[in-house]
Amino acid sequence: MVQPLVKVEHVAIEFRSGRFLSRRRVRVLDDINVEIYEGETFGLVGESGSGKTTLGKTIVGLYRPAEGRVLYRGKDIWSMSKEEFREFRKQVQMIHQDPYASLNPVHTIFRILSKPLLKYKLATPDDVEEKVAQLLKRVGLTPPEDFMYKYPHQLSGGQRQRVSIARAIAVRPKMLVADEPVSMVDVSLRVGILKLLARLREELGMSLLYITHDLATLRYIAKGGRIAVMYLGKIVEIASVEELIEKPLHPYTQLLLAALPEPDPKVTRSKKLPKLRSIDIPSIANPPPGCRFNTRCPYYKAGLCDREPPPMIEVEKGHWVACWLYAKR
Ligand SMILES: Nc1ncnc2c1ncn2[C@@H]1O[C@H](COP(=O)(O)OP(=O)(O)OP(=O)(O)O)[C@@H](O)[C@H]1O
Ligand SMILES: [Mg+2]
Repeated sequence: MVQPLVKVEHVAIEFRSGRFLSRRRVRVLDDINVEIYEGETFGLVGESGSGKTTLGKTIVGLYRPAEGRVLYRGKDIWSMSKEEFREFRKQVQMIHQDPYASLNPVHTIFRILSKPLLKYKLATPDDVEEKVAQLLKRVGLTPPEDFMYKYPHQLSGGQRQRVSIARAIAVRPKMLVADEPVSMVDVSLRVGILKLLARLREELGMSLLYITHDLATLRYIAKGGRIAVMYLGKIVEIASVEELIEKPLHPYTQLLLAALPEPDPKVTRSKKLPKLRSIDIPSIANPPPGCRFNTRCPYYKAGLCDREPPPMIEVEKGHWVACWLYAKR
């Protein structure tokens, strides 16, 4: 048995919301289970507010679970020694949605990239300039002299995101968590960044966790990898990209796929959209009982779907789904 690089085990994340007397805990992730293997591309898809960023931040150790564990190479990250946790934080890097907010505006690109190299002794004061230049070349910012002494605001959104990627790979991580990395980037430049991420994953032998609300992008970047679909703080389906697209099992996944545009407009028009019970999305702070999709699901069965949450079951090898259509009670 190969050990997963990262294993998320029955994880729940809670935030405090409201003020003073009305203060309460809101559970935004509930019983999350995922395994990510070395070198694989793993996509996480779901609509806005479903908890994707929260899960990404939990995996890199920015949020501490209220329940469950996050294991890195078999070790619970929250019971690691200070040294081990520091090493873990280095090995699992995150790229955020907004490259402008994540790059210090008063530092030059050289300063931004030299900092991690020097901190982790991957460069010396003598060769740091050359190492920064190599990093810039690696992410396609050439010639490096044109970028090194600029400030983030002097670069385009796409160039800034390339700097964030350079900073993340500077420490030679084993895994990259990319959270909507192209959503703030001009449409014409998105494919370039996606290709760069895919190439770096391959060259550096990293795992890539790619987070997006856009299944079309995911289909592109996660080719050959696996996808997990999230709905209101729960994972509802996990499968290989090919399986998920050919044979989506969960009604929510079917809905996401039906909404994808096809190159041929005739195909798009002839696609059968399942009829939703309701178009309203319930609040994550107050999810419906039972299966969280039950208020919208076209296959809703009263007394079944609104009672207990469906268990995650493996319908075919590697294809998991949490839906009462496939589970026995
Ligand atoms: N630090 C926080 N404190 C309180 N609530 C939070 C916090 N972070 C996220 N939330 C809430 O948790 C829920 C999930 O948020 P999250 O950002 O993980 O969703 P998402 O799937 O990444 O959405 P998007 O596609 O819009 O980025 C939302 O209801 C959000 O308001
Ligand atoms: Mg998000």
